[in-house]
Amino acid sequence: MTHAQNAQQFRINPLTESFGAEILGLDLAKPISDATFAAIQEAFQKYHVICFRDQVMDEKAHLDFTLRWGELEVFPEEDKTTTAKTFYNVANTSREGEHLSEDDPRVLFQKVNARWHTDSSYRYVPSFASVMYSTEILPDEARGGETEFSNMLAAYDALSDADKRRFEPLHMVHYYEFGRRLYPALPPITPFERDAVPPVSHPLVRVHPDRDNQRSLFFTVNAGNEISGMSLEEGQALHKWLDEYASKPEFIYSHRWCENDLVMWDNRVLLHRATHYDMAKYRRAFRRTTVAGNGPAFGPFSLIPAAVTSK
Ligand SMILES: [Fe+2]
Repeated sequence: MTHAQNAQQFRINPLTESFGAEILGLDLAKPISDATFAAIQEAFQKYHVICFRDQVMDEKAHLDFTLRWGELEVFPEEDKTTTAKTFYNVANTSREGEHLSEDDPRVLFQKVNARWHTDSSYRYVPSFASVMYSTEILPDEARGGETEFSNMLAAYDALSDADKRRFEPLHMVHYYEFGRRLYPALPPITPFERDAVPPVSHPLVRVHPDRDNQRSLFFTVNAGNEISGMSLEEGQALHKWLDEYASKPEFIYSHRWCENDLVMWDNRVLLHRATHYDMAKYRRAFRRTTVAGNGPAFGPFSLIPAAVTSK
């Protein structure tokens, strides 16, 4: 498919049969017309994860593009991997360029994110989308370091009818502090963080009003493992099953990063995780912005919109 960016042409190439697309020939640092932006929005809604190749994006261009989509999420977390409140430094390097040791708390956060998650699931209003730009990528010979995406719309559809019914009333408890349970060496969360992001529950089956009330699975493996309405043991067993279920190859697109990739993904319908790589040997760095969600996640029995409850 070919579209015009003002005087330019660009192409959208699907990356798998079900989701993911790369966009070629578009320069996001240049002004984008409303018509071009509408075509990008359409692609995003259809493919869930879109990769813009060959982008040269400074922080301002990155922010300007993100703001086309909505309000920025401001990170409440203190002392994570960034010094700017609107950029999250997804990296095993510091913002000053130092290659960090594997036990540095900033690197431990990267290990937490090697588990399936959606960004900011631990907020009452989970995020809409993330926009991530590669600044240092692994060399071709290095193994791992991909970002894997798992399609939770497809995962829900593939459930048995019995599991669809069983999961309908369930919620998962999400909390920012869970990473500390996984890596006790991390510094404890601060009173500021505890107030900013207290534990929340989200429906395990998420309903999407912008997709004609289509349903997806909505859970994470980096921000909890408890299921409301089940005993701790039963909930953790179901959570473990979900973790393995999301890892089925038929739901996954694995993105091997190229220099100057800008990848944008839909946190409402996808999970993602980083694959293992040799952190002591290789540097890997990204700059990420996050577009805030516009409301809490709806479940099958949410009151709005009314059509949801009659489905
Ligand atoms: Fe993430």
